[in-house]
Parts: sequence; C-alpha cells; structure tokens
Amino acid sequence: MSLPSLTDTTALIRHRRSIKPVDMDAARPVDAPLLTELIENATWAPNHGLTEPWHFHVFSEAARQGLADNLRRIYQQTTPASEFREDKLKKMGDNPLLAPVIIACVMQRNGGAKIPEQEELEAISCALQNLMLSATAAGLGSFWSSPPLLDTAEFQTWLGIRPEDRCVGLIYLGWPRTGLNWPRSVRQPVETKISWHHD
Ligand SMILES: Cc1cc2nc3c(=O)[nH]c(=O)nc-3n(C[C@H](O)[C@H](O)[C@H](O)COP(=O)(O)O)c2cc1C
Repeated sequence: MSLPSLTDTTALIRHRRSIKPVDMDAARPVDAPLLTELIENATWAPNHGLTEPWHFHVFSEAARQGLADNLRRIYQQTTPASEFREDKLKKMGDNPLLAPVIIACVMQRNGGAKIPEQEELEAISCALQNLMLSATAAGLGSFWSSPPLLDTAEFQTWLGIRPEDRCVGLIYLGWPRTGLNWPRSVRQPVETKISWHHD
C-alpha cells in the first residue's frame, strides 16, 4: 500500500471547506458503499481505551423529510421565545432536503468511570474530521451543523439515544452543485499559534 505524500495530505486538508447544503446537488445520491467507507474511516480515529464512542444515524431519501419535520417541531418546542428566530426555523426544515445525506453523529458514552466524557467528545471530533476529509477526497462537500436543540431531551428521544449520549452534530454530505465556486477560508499565520520550547 502506498501512502499519500505529505504534499497530497496537506492539499487535502487545506482543500476541505464547509459546503452549505444550499450548495449541494440534492438530486444526486451518494451510494451506500461510499458512505460506509467514509464512516469506517471515521472509526479509525484515535480513541482512548478503544471505547469507540460513536454511532452514526444516516438519513437519506424520504427519511430526510422526517428529520426536517422533527427539527422544526423540536426547535419550536424547545427554543425560548427570546431566542426564537423564524429564519432558523425555516433552515431547520429546508436544509435536510437540500442535501442528499445527513448523518446525525452521536458520541456514545462507552468509557464508564475510566474514560472522561471530555475524551470521548474529543475522540468523536477526530472521527468527524476523518469523515469530512475522506468526503473531500471523494469529491463530496460536507457541512457540520450543531444547533443547540441537538442537546435537548426531545431530540435525544426522537433519535433514540440515551441521556448520557450526545449528538454532537449533523453532518450534511452532498456533491457540490455545478458551477459552485469553492469557498475560501482563512487562518491566522501559524507562527502566532506556536511557542517553541528548546531548552
Ligand atoms: C464542532 C463544530 C460545530 C459547528 N457548527 C456549525 C454550525 O452550527 N453552523 C455553521 O454554520 N457552521 C458550523 N461549523 C462549521 C464552522 O463554521 C466552519 O468549520 C468554519 O467556519 C471554518 O470554515 P471551514 O470549515 O470551511 O474551514 C461547526 C464546526 C465545528 C468544528
């Protein structure tokens, strides 16, 4: 097996961008074998104690409507009046239908008393980066969405997860729409992020 060069790896990492659902081709499906490979790559993330603290709920085709309906319902039921926004409610209903696939990514609390929750959250974050980089390599756009309602009991009940588990994000996946200008992003110069300690 030949490994990708550092140059290729750097190019992949820097090419990944958040691609919004509105910029995906909703009509072009993503095959189950490809989705399975992306999720399997996610599971190769580092995880303390090999607790594999993750589970992936994949919504496609007609199931997206159920997700959209329930996101809207739970947003309406759980958002305090002072924070409620019509545009957010609309997005909850629209976004799942704009992408061909949405993966509700759950941190499954497997570590018991031995592994802190924080470390299982860190592990699933690594897993989701694996997933999004793999998606990028396959030519797919990806978008990590984390509306606060994911942490409500209403959403957990609907998804069928335990109170100690946490849905850390909805990852939208889809082929970028024709003619999309790949988004740009910025990072601060790396020198500002490093303190070298030599002696
Ligand atoms: C934990 C996490 C949660 C995120 N949640 C949201 C979100 O709810 N809405 C959103 O627009 N972007 C969300 N993002 C995506 C970031 O906004 C995005 O990564 C950032 O703007 C940098 O752009 P890039 O991904 O193209 O480099 C999230 C990213 C992470 C890591």
